[in-house]
Amino acid sequence: MKPVYLFLSIFIVLFSCKKESTKPEVKEELIMYEASEMTVLMRDIYEFNKALKVRIEEKKELLEYPNEFFKINTAKLTNPDYRNAEFDSLATIFLENQRASFSPNTDSLVINYNKSIKACIECHKTRCTGPLPKIKKLMIH
Ligand code: HEC
Repeated sequence: MKPVYLFLSIFIVLFSCKKESTKPEVKEELIMYEASEMTVLMRDIYEFNKALKVRIEEKKELLEYPNEFFKINTAKLTNPDYRNAEFDSLATIFLENQRASFSPNTDSLVINYNKSIKACIECHKTRCTGPLPKIKKLMIH
């Protein structure tokens, strides 16, 4: 196998909805995998929050709120059944708390940030459970 494919498959296994496994079925994963709009958005959301967590913890200047997060309301999903009334209300809670955790210098910054991560966890409990362990690591204790 070419190293680039090995790298790709490791990447896919680490980030996909499926439970992380140490022995990926490399070929099938590569052929079947096509990232949905939501998957692409979620990867951005994850990276942003990872960076945001460090900035909050180190009391650095915060990042600007990425308006593209609103796409959570419309982005195409791999499984369209995931989007229902519960999804929409969790998405709204997520967006509200995320916005609050990008506002600088409020006493409740950490609380708002953790609330937004809890909204990720709440939605991921029933949809796309694979990334839950790494989402939980985003909480500030
Ligand atoms: C309202 C529901 C909802 C919320 C809130 C939510 N997610 Fe997701 N997330 C999903 C769904 C559904 C998918 C699967 C997307 C697909 O397969 O099309 C997903 C996919 C992902 C993935 C996997 C991407 C991949 O490469 O396969 C990661 C990582 C992720 N979300 C992280 C987060 C983080 C971090 C947050 C909060 C900061 C968050 N999510 C908030 C529903 C949500």
